[in-house]
Amino acid sequence: MEELIKALRLQLEAFEIKDAATLEQFRIQFLGAKNEIKALFKTPEFSAVPGPDRKAVGQALNALSKAAQEKFDSFNDSNASEDESEERTDISRPAEKESLGSRHPLSLVKNQIVEIFAKIGFSVSEGPEIEDDWHNFTALNLPEEHPARDMQDTFFIQQNPDVLLRTHTSSVQVRHMEQAQPPIRAIFPGRVYRNEAISARAHCFFHQIEGLYIAEKVSFADLKQTLLYFAQSFFGDKAEIRLRPSYFPFTEPSAEVDVSCSICGGKGCNVCKYTGWLEIMGCGMIDPAVLDNCGIDSDKYTGFAFGMGVERIAMLKYGVKDLRLFSENDIRFLSQFEGVVE
Ligand code: DAH
Repeated sequence: MEELIKALRLQLEAFEIKDAATLEQFRIQFLGAKNEIKALFKTPEFSAVPGPDRKAVGQALNALSKAAQEKFDSFNDSNASEDESEERTDISRPAEKESLGSRHPLSLVKNQIVEIFAKIGFSVSEGPEIEDDWHNFTALNLPEEHPARDMQDTFFIQQNPDVLLRTHTSSVQVRHMEQAQPPIRAIFPGRVYRNEAISARAHCFFHQIEGLYIAEKVSFADLKQTLLYFAQSFFGDKAEIRLRPSYFPFTEPSAEVDVSCSICGGKGCNVCKYTGWLEIMGCGMIDPAVLDNCGIDSDKYTGFAFGMGVERIAMLKYGVKDLRLFSENDIRFLSQFEGVVE
């Protein structure tokens, strides 16, 4: 009897289940109503087993049935997971959306502006966000008690009036002039801070790009032409600019620059408040006192400077109506710039 059981176990173990058909054969042979394990109970060999040994033989046969069931189940299980993996590689299924990541709209605009000025020979440099009074104010013709300081809503650090968060990138002009001699042609992008209430149009931090050109005989006409070149490169060939007289302590004369509204083409719409013009920056001829403060001979050299707000330009370019969107990191806003490479 032992021999028969052993032979059947070997057969069971060697049985190769490859597919549904061989699985069914296996089931009939080892688990079906007339399976071979059951059949052993009816053999003369089983009848010949002496009474006291019957129990052990019965247990051995039961163990064999159990092994058959396990083999059957394990094929069934692995087959089921194969089915699933087949589903996963179904090439007709629509692909899952890959998230690409995107550049921040302010970086897109900044990079584009840097590139436009690089084409006419402007280099790029940066300065610190934590500044001292000299670079942010005094060297720029804003001595202590100058009323224009009030307009800047400065954040001071640790109640020390000499350590502050820069209120404009004009501070980088000063640092650059202190280190270089003309001809200087450079732009300075960066983040600036002002203690202002946060709203759709203002924030306590934002970004500016400052520009500087100093050489012999630089004139206001050069400034105007450079800004027109910029406006047309950025907003399109049809863009026009207009300069309105203004006041900045570090430039004389000073002007504010408007660009014709790119949304309505100058006809008037709610973005330009029906004026046809949008203000984009401040500019002017560098005050000779500022040149002298920074170690540049104002008898020999003249220059112009300008400063623009990156958020404002990005809002115009992308039709963004609320400045806060730029700093909230809302993926629904940022993902709209996926695939924009500039
Ligand atoms: N610093 C000014 C501001 O933050 C902008 C500005 C105006 C910069 C005139 C300049 C300039 O370089 O010439 O409002």
